[in-house]
Amino acid sequence: MQVYHGSVLGGPVLQHLNFTEEGIVVDSTLGDGGHTELLLKNSGPGLNVLGIDRDADALARASKRLAPYGGRVRFAHGNYSEIKSILARFGIPKIDGLLLDLGVSSPQIDTPERGFSFMKAGPLDMRMDRRDALTAADLLQTLSDRDLEFLFREYGEERHARRIVRAIRRAQAEAPIATTTELSAIISRAVPGARQARIHPATRVFQALRIAVNRELDHLKTALADSLDVLSEGARVIVISFHSLEDRIVKNFFRDEEKGCVCPPRLPVCVCGKKPRLKVITRRVITPTEEEIAANPRASSAKMRVAERVYV
Ligand SMILES: C[S@@+](CC[C@H](N)C(=O)[O-])C[C@H]1O[C@@H](n2cnc3c(N)ncnc32)[C@H](O)[C@@H]1O
Repeated sequence: MQVYHGSVLGGPVLQHLNFTEEGIVVDSTLGDGGHTELLLKNSGPGLNVLGIDRDADALARASKRLAPYGGRVRFAHGNYSEIKSILARFGIPKIDGLLLDLGVSSPQIDTPERGFSFMKAGPLDMRMDRRDALTAADLLQTLSDRDLEFLFREYGEERHARRIVRAIRRAQAEAPIATTTELSAIISRAVPGARQARIHPATRVFQALRIAVNRELDHLKTALADSLDVLSEGARVIVISFHSLEDRIVKNFFRDEEKGCVCPPRLPVCVCGKKPRLKVITRRVITPTEEEIAANPRASSAKMRVAERVYV
């Protein structure tokens, strides 16, 4: 039996997509197609989905799963940061909803050859889109000590970043680090108290490398900014994030786009001309219930925010 990625916060996603009888929703992180299937199942024939994923394996799995929905779902292999050009290619001027369910999918983590997991032996790859040039092994080989340390500290919140970089350099003096388990062992040896730690000592470094290899934060910023040009009036954008840096980007973007005039108060009239482009729907971030986390522990760090496009 096929086991799919366990979709996170399905109920709130459905509730907030606020879809109409007619329209097109973009699921820009299609993954295994779980959210899209939920949406198609719970809406009428006039509601269609364009599913985007940068991972060709995900698209192959999702297109099989969603085959029963026929022409109601179309597929695009690409990056959500290219949302405008992807929509242009499909002849879609405006959309009625947008979902970004960030991060990796379970099949990506669970497939050793993809190199995302420190628990499974595989090449140190971590590219979601295998057309991209640089793997995690390449980054380890080419980044300076300073950049690598910054990356572990910033994206991984790793306290022992410097110590780990030194251990990596000692190992690389012998031979390049090519596999997940080699890197994981180097980190375990370098981090003090690794055996007693609550989480595996390689967790943070692997997360940091994944974010860097896939330039996840840059793409998120571009997608959010460009979505404003394609969301129709009243359309909602939903973002589910799993990392505090991602959530901060979303929160700040929504807050900035909700604001109108940003002229200094001493000016008698507005000269900036800035208008609100979003209305924040979720004043408080939405998180999974205890029951959802018990059923799907990978949901535990999920945070969901929703905003609606306004044209003033
Ligand atoms: C958490 S999974 C999505 C799971 C999906 N919502 C479901 O219910 O099955 C995230 C997916 O987003 C994709 N992804 C991550 N960053 C992307 C980007 N910049 N552009 C397009 N897809 C991306 C990953 O390849 C992965 O398949």
